Amino acid sequence: MKRVTIRVPATTANLGPGFDAFGCALSLYTDVTFEETERGLEITGCDEAFAGPDNLAYTAYCAVLNTMNEDVGGVKIHIDAHIPICRGLGSSAALLVAGAMGANVLRGNKLSTQGLLNITNAMEGHPDNLAPAFYGGLTASMVEGGLPVTVSFPLHPDWEFLALIPDFDLPTSLARSVLPTQVSRADAIYNISHGALVLKALELGDEKLLRTAMQDRLHQTYRRKLIEDYEKIEALVRSTGAAFCLSGAGPTLLCVTQDPHLEKKLARKLDSVTKNNWQMLPLYVEFQGAHVIDWE
Ligand code: HSE
Repeated sequence: MKRVTIRVPATTANLGPGFDAFGCALSLYTDVTFEETERGLEITGCDEAFAGPDNLAYTAYCAVLNTMNEDVGGVKIHIDAHIPICRGLGSSAALLVAGAMGANVLRGNKLSTQGLLNITNAMEGHPDNLAPAFYGGLTASMVEGGLPVTVSFPLHPDWEFLALIPDFDLPTSLARSVLPTQVSRADAIYNISHGALVLKALELGDEKLLRTAMQDRLHQTYRRKLIEDYEKIEALVRSTGAAFCLSGAGPTLLCVTQDPHLEKKLARKLDSVTKNNWQMLPLYVEFQGAHVIDWE
């Protein structure tokens, strides 16, 4: 095989209290094509600033080949990204996953998915977006001895994840820099207990339970200040009865519901309570993880 295209789903990390642990794959995708060439690196389909050797798809591609002790050689990479960049929907993880899987497929699938997750987790620093991007569906992960351990959880199929995406970005590094390095025992207990119940509510399709459980004291409290309109949108969403959380490190805000009319209900009021331009994007659970969609 000389050329392969990998499709990777968007992911929402944390799901409220599951900071750096929970993640869910969503129905929005980035496709990346890798074609082995005689020499050099060529990257198309992205801003010129990202078309160099620092490109995440390429760095993951190289990391996998280095692990296999294989020459990187020349490669042409084309990125067809539908996951918005720096918005908390796993755009960086998608590139890492695509690069890792692209290299593995082109060189005969020598590494397992767990092996690819190990490599990319070392690059990203936390597995909460990577795991659902690889496996699909709802996952929870822990890191033990430096290596990620992931479990998939059952998920009711009727949830809608209505993403509210603003017209400004929020780099994850900034969103992490405002977090405290130590937390109180009360806040730790709050998140452990709420996290366990979030997983059960998502499995059962219990929106009332999810609305209560999907609350957090480890990151959203600190990050809300970075996102103008956060409080107003949270109040608006909660008034509809939907569950609400920050998607990953933000700035996308997520409503989780089974109400097919939520988008219409919010559309009537969103513009009047917000200063920025927020796009509403209805998303659904993607149960399939990253996979090959084309090859030659
Ligand atoms: N768990 C991560 C965070 C997700 O909230 O910072 C973003 O990469």
